[in-house]
Formats: sequence, structure tokens, C-alpha cells
Amino acid sequence: MDENIIVLGGDGFCGWPTSLGLSKAGYDITIVDNLSRRKIDIDLECESLTPITPISTRIKAWKSLTGKEIQFIHLDVSSQYHKLYTLIRELKPMSIVHFAEQRAAPYSMKSPFHKRYTVDNNINATHNTLCAITESEEDVHLVHLGTMGVYGYGTAGMPIPEGYLKVKVECKQDFKDIEILYPANPGSIYHMTKTQDALMFYYYNKNDGTRITDLHQGIVWGTNTPETMLDEALINRFDYDGDYGTVLNRFLMQAAIGHPLTVHGTGGQTRAFIHIRDTVNCIKLAIENPPARGERVRILNQATETHTLRNLAVMISEMTGAQIRYYANPRKEDSENTLSVCNENFLNMGLNPITLNEGLLTEVIDIAGKYKNRCDTSKILCTSKWRRDIVLDTEGSLEPAG
Ligand SMILES: NC(=O)c1ccc[n+]([C@@H]2O[C@H](COP(=O)([O-])OP(=O)(O)OC[C@H]3O[C@@H](n4cnc5c(N)ncnc54)[C@H](O)[C@@H]3O)[C@@H](O)[C@H]2O)c1
Repeated sequence: MDENIIVLGGDGFCGWPTSLGLSKAGYDITIVDNLSRRKIDIDLECESLTPITPISTRIKAWKSLTGKEIQFIHLDVSSQYHKLYTLIRELKPMSIVHFAEQRAAPYSMKSPFHKRYTVDNNINATHNTLCAITESEEDVHLVHLGTMGVYGYGTAGMPIPEGYLKVKVECKQDFKDIEILYPANPGSIYHMTKTQDALMFYYYNKNDGTRITDLHQGIVWGTNTPETMLDEALINRFDYDGDYGTVLNRFLMQAAIGHPLTVHGTGGQTRAFIHIRDTVNCIKLAIENPPARGERVRILNQATETHTLRNLAVMISEMTGAQIRYYANPRKEDSENTLSVCNENFLNMGLNPITLNEGLLTEVIDIAGKYKNRCDTSKILCTSKWRRDIVLDTEGSLEPAG
């Protein structure tokens, strides 16, 4: 096929399986990563539950199993602008997939250091990428991973549209129909950086005609894709700790090791979800259906279903017999919300969504069970809180916390 794709953040939880999926599909993949996620593990004294191998071992294993080469460039996208620009000039990629951000809301709320790191890293990484694409004068399609969380999970009652909202504005005595970016409502410093990303996309698209797809992704669950399952050396990371673990994977892992399922508040928060295999499928669809030249930023909701956290916990408890424990919520968020999300664009491109099913849930529990001896149970409870005056609840109770 001989078409280059650069995957920024290609060593991470979503980036690694995506890089393998695109390599298998015949694209020439270059992973750019500064390995900051692995270094954060050292700082947090916590590791992926699954034993991830070093990036060079991963890439060698992929080559020996499939014959396909993946190139790795160690580069900090937020600070090594010239190296990034030169790479784009050299490779002339058809697409750049941008995962290279600090992605945990609890981590972003830990302290002033973590807030400032998240802002510096994420905003500079996105701006450097946009600036380097523009300066390179190459026609690169940027595919960015955003999050459903930019909208704050509340609506006026309608499904969240794909990026743009039709509104009526009052002009003198008349009403005019216009379309605006769906209002941002970030719930953490991490989410705030994603809402800032959206403005940078809007600007570069308007000013320089940069072709951009911004994917508002739901919470990813699952761990394996057909490619990561080929060999243990290719295994994907599995975060279970209170900062980086995503909620459904945390519940599945807690069930596997006999820890109570840790629900915050009443568990009435509704969130959007997507399986890791659909993350890979959606990114491939986004790359293969790029916006036309001159088209506005394309914003797609990359989520396949919504659930309350309480219902997920009950479902897993019924499957496994795990106990549920409710903890006072360390976040500042609505205790209950309804959420429904439009995802027609991906369905029209041919996405056949993987929804929560017992087989896939069991697969994750089996993986968690296999590696449970690697779990540090002291890292399970969340220790980050959204405000200094919030008191951490380390005991929990059998009844929902108010
Ligand atoms: N995991 C989810 O549930 C989820 C949900 C919605 C959106 N997302 C978005 O998807 C993207 C990827 O998430 P993930 O779960 O794979 O996270 P991750 O932390 O596992 O991966 C991010 C990768 O980017 C690298 N990175 C970070 N900053 C960098 C920089 N300045 N230069 C170079 N590399 C850098 C890290 O080392 C890591 O390998 C994020 O932007 C995140 O906001 C993830």
C-alpha cells in the first residue's frame, strides 16, 4: 500500500493496538512516543496489570510474527517541535493519528504539578502538531482522540449531536438559525485541555484549511484485539489503579481478584463506552473517510453504548458474585445523569458495534485473573480528589453514598 501514517502516542493503551491494526491493514506505521506513560507508572509506583514489553521488543515481535515493519521515534511532541516538523516533511504521511496526551482525569487533578503538566503537555502537543502540519505544507489529515467528557455529560434532554448544535438566535425582531460548536463543559483539568484542543482545530481548519477529524471517544473497555493476542510480547496495557484505570476494566479486574466493586456516589452517573477493538475499527474508518479539502472540522462521536456505573456494577456482580461497595465521590460531578449519544456517522461508514457481552466481559476477567499476582491492591482506591476540601472515603459502605 505504501502509505505512511504517523501514530503519536502509539505506545499507549489505544495507540498500540491501533498501530498494529493499521500495520496489518497494510499502512506503513511510524510510532512517535516519549514513553511518558511508562515513566508515570514509575512515579505512581504502579504498573500495567498485564506485563507489557519494552517498545523495541514489541516491534521486533510484530516483525517476526507478521513480517511487517513498524518504525519507532522517541520524541516529545509537546517540546521537540523541530524534530516533529522534520519527520512530517520526510514521511509526508497521509494521516497523523494523535493520541499523545496525558489522558487521566484523576491524575490531572492530583496537585498543581499534575494540573500544570497536563495543560503544558496536552495543549503544546496538539498545537505543535497543527503548526508542524501547516508549516510542512503537506496535505496531512489529522485524526485526534478527544473525549465524550468535553460536554460534561449533561444535555437538555436530547442525544448529544456530533460536534455541532443547531440553535436559533434572536436578531432584532427575527430569529436566525445557526450552527455552533456544541458547548464545552469540562469536568476536570484533563477535560479542559480537550476542550481547548477543539478551539485550536477550529482555528487551524478555518485559517489554514487543515483537514481534521476529532473523535469524541467514550470510555474504552477491553484489552485485547486480534493483533495483540498473537503473542504475549504484543500484549496491551491494562490500567487498574485509581488514576489511570478506566471504570469498566477496573470493575472487571476487581471481580477477578475478589475485591469489592468500587462505585463512587450513587453510581447513577451515565457514561458512554466503546470496546478497544471498535476504537481500532473507528480510527481506520476515520482515516479511510477523510474530510474533503475545505470541509469544516469533522467531529464524530466514537461511542457505541451508554450505561450507568451502578448498572455495570450490578451486571458484573451478578456474573461473578462480586460485592459492590459505594464510596463518597472524590469528583465534583452530578450524582445522577442521563446521556444518549448520536453515532450515525460511524454507523454509516460501516461500523458494526461491539456491545457489552458476556464473552468479552469474561475475556477481560480471565486476563485480569491470569495476571492478578501483579496487582498491588493498595493502588485500587482513588486517591485524587477534585477539591482540597473533599474528604477521601477509604472505607465505603454497602449502601449508595449520597
Ligand atoms: N482510554 C480511554 O478510555 C480514552 C477515552 C476517551 C479518550 N481517550 C483519548 O485517547 C488518547 C489515548 O489514550 P490512551 O488510553 O491510549 O492513553 P495512554 O496514556 O495509554 O497513551 C498515551 C500515549 O501518549 C504518549 N504521550 C503522552 N504525551 C506525549 C508527548 N508529549 N509526546 C509523545 N508521546 C506522548 C504516552 O507515553 C502514551 O504512550 C488520549 O488522548 C485520550 O484522551 C482515551
